[in-house]
Amino acid sequence: MTARKQRRVKAIADDVIKYGADVIDSEGHKSCAKYIQHGDTSVQDHTISVACVCLKITKILHLKKFDRYDLVRGALLHDYFLYDWHIYDPERGHGHGFKHASIAAKNAAEDFSVTPLMAEMIKKHMWPLNLALPLHREAYILILADKVCSLRETFGKPYYYMVLNEIKGKA
Ligand SMILES: [Fe+2]
Ligand SMILES: [Fe+2]
Repeated sequence: MTARKQRRVKAIADDVIKYGADVIDSEGHKSCAKYIQHGDTSVQDHTISVACVCLKITKILHLKKFDRYDLVRGALLHDYFLYDWHIYDPERGHGHGFKHASIAAKNAAEDFSVTPLMAEMIKKHMWPLNLALPLHREAYILILADKVCSLRETFGKPYYYMVLNEIKGKA
């Protein structure tokens, strides 16, 4: 990695720590490390990568008007469903793809202080699978970052794998 890229990655990692350290260091979020999201990436690593990519998108698009606090925390909590989605549970039934966004929003509201914007981001991050149209740019940034990370994790290494442990160590 070039020195310039290292500085960019560090700036993003520092922002995730600044706005989301308490979430990453919570027992609930740490419990997401035991569930696999895609490939061999845990749900916790996936959500940290998504938070990093959200910030990267704002830099690529030179976005100035967005809520950095809600963007990072909404991303960290967007898959806070707290179960192994690969294992069928008769109580939950089928349809993880459709259901998990509202389960994550409910769990997040129970364990953290969730703003209306964060709630929208979490509830609508599966758009267009969940049909309700997001109303805020932070939600669209999350939708894009989630797709990018999911593809990377399914077919290769997660984004920001080089700083995931560093972020978790500092949180
Ligand atoms: Fe999700
Ligand atoms: Fe996700």
